Amino acid sequence: MKILVTGGLGFIGSHTVVALQEKGYDVVIIDNLSNSDISVLEGITKITGIRPGFEAIDLRDKPKVIDFFNRYHNIEGIIHFAASKAVGESVQKPLLYYENNLNTLIYLLQQMQEKAIRNFIFSSSCTVYGEPDDLPITETAPVKPALSPYGNTKQIGEEIIRDTAKAYPLFKSIALRYFNPIGAHPSGYIGELPLGIPQNLVPFVTQTAAGIRKELSVFGDDYPTPDGTAIRDYIHVVDLAESHVVALERLLNNTQKVNFEVFNIGTGRGSSVMEIIKSFENVNGIKLNYKITGRREGDVTAVWADTSLAEKELGWKARLTMEDALRDAWRWQQKISKSS
Ligand code: UD1
Repeated sequence: MKILVTGGLGFIGSHTVVALQEKGYDVVIIDNLSNSDISVLEGITKITGIRPGFEAIDLRDKPKVIDFFNRYHNIEGIIHFAASKAVGESVQKPLLYYENNLNTLIYLLQQMQEKAIRNFIFSSSCTVYGEPDDLPITETAPVKPALSPYGNTKQIGEEIIRDTAKAYPLFKSIALRYFNPIGAHPSGYIGELPLGIPQNLVPFVTQTAAGIRKELSVFGDDYPTPDGTAIRDYIHVVDLAESHVVALERLLNNTQKVNFEVFNIGTGRGSSVMEIIKSFENVNGIKLNYKITGRREGDVTAVWADTSLAEKELGWKARLTMEDALRDAWRWQQKISKSS
């Protein structure tokens, strides 16, 4: 069965391609290589022994999107990762973010109507909850006004899909609201490839450990948390990837309750920035250079998921620990540091 994975050479996309291939799905990837590298195709192939199909298409190019769907007749489902995701950049370049993240979504959904493709998985984010009123966060928590254009594209993206699902009862979709994906494939063949200076915590940690960055800044130790640093729900990217396969199978097996559903995808456990640093040091036997600086604008105090809905409905639960993820992230960092 053929599945289209957009953004399939990216961090989460590539791990999901592996998970799909391991379950026997035939995958074709669309990626414009704007935040990924063609070498990821080799990494995927090394892990699974199967080279996925690949089309270097920018989904903003509507004629190319139409042409793709005219050439591929047998796509049964789409997992849509392709999007821009840097919060700070989205504040500087909001129109680029709206174009990249929403036009592309609309073009895909139009082609799905055109070609009667029914099954759609959307990458959403826990950012839609903003600063939550209650922890852990359930899917019924209110969606708060977005703190950035990036966050807004995820909220609007969900709304576009919800409206599409209302208008077309045969269309089926699930949005997965990711918490903080970290780690790398345990094989060491694929992982995160941040462009430039990493904005996210774990890539900054691994680059600091590798000597690429002088020191890690801990953004604030005056939060109302046990150790004063902010808390997030860090999920291993391999677990996250598997959630896409089970969500897709829910669509393919027609076991959805309604034709658009959302699920939190996290571990259900919060870790502070200091806990991440200490665990990284412990599992990898390395001392990390860090200093405490001021808070980063727009950061929230604490976010972690209630994952019981995903567990009950999808039968999915994170298996790997934050320690596993920090070990795998470091293995990957050492590999890419060596080869660059
Ligand atoms: C960020 C985005 C979120 C997006 C997600 C994608 C913001 C405000 N939020 O989540 O919308 O969906 O990435 O992965 O950018 N930290 C440091 N030092 C660093 C980097 C981070 O102390 O050098 C801290 C942050 O203050 C935060 C935690 O580490 O408390 C996690 O940060 P990060 O990895 O950037 O993720 P989020 O901010 O949670």
